[in-house]
Amino acid sequence: MRRVVLNLALLAGIVLFLALRMVGPSTTQQRNIEFFPDMARGLRFNSFSANPVFENGATLQPPVPGTLRIDTFEWRSGRGESDYVPAIGEERDNPFQAGDAAAMERGQVVYEAWCLPCHGATGAGDGPVTTRGYPEPPSLTLGGAVDMSDTLLFQIITLGGFEMPAYAAQIVPSDRWRSILYLRELQRREAAGAGGQP
Ligand code: HEC
Repeated sequence: MRRVVLNLALLAGIVLFLALRMVGPSTTQQRNIEFFPDMARGLRFNSFSANPVFENGATLQPPVPGTLRIDTFEWRSGRGESDYVPAIGEERDNPFQAGDAAAMERGQVVYEAWCLPCHGATGAGDGPVTTRGYPEPPSLTLGGAVDMSDTLLFQIITLGGFEMPAYAAQIVPSDRWRSILYLRELQRREAAGAGGQP
């Protein structure tokens, strides 16, 4: 009698197991029971789906008032900059001329932001970082830079030197030329101050 009960219980167990297998999910890729799934499966909204969280009911929100497009600033967007990059082996004079006051002004801004820290305000090689152990660069107004072509100066700014870092990523090509325009002005002043002798 006890054995019959046991067998019936086992049979019931098998039937229950098979029944659950039939109604339950058939994939082995996925857990069929999850406890506290909230953290694994958080509430989320697609970009264009309705959204009760925001007052306007949209998920994708407009930019805050006063936001400027990145290409508002011509110099920041990099648009039209490829025209300012000389081809490999090409010698090119500075596309900006000494009489161009706007280019000179911008060149001074660029020089003072990116070159002055090492080369100094007058290009003498006495920038503030040299007082903190950074190797003193040669004078840009007395040394070899006076006789360098515009293209070579452009390449030095673009690629850097031994101890000078490359500035291709920080200064857009047209601004490199403008800083060279200002550098030539520093050289002109130095030459004038030294009685015309470089
Ligand atoms: C982090 C310091 C640093 C900054 C910033 C820097 N330079 Fe230099 N530069 C040097 C050093 C050091 C040298 C010496 C040669 C070398 O190691 O490349 C040098 C060399 C040069 C030379 C060659 C001079 C020669 O006689 O051989 C030129 C030209 C020059 N720099 C221009 C610039 C211009 C223009 C800028 C700004 C766009 C600039 N540098 C920014 C450190 C700097």
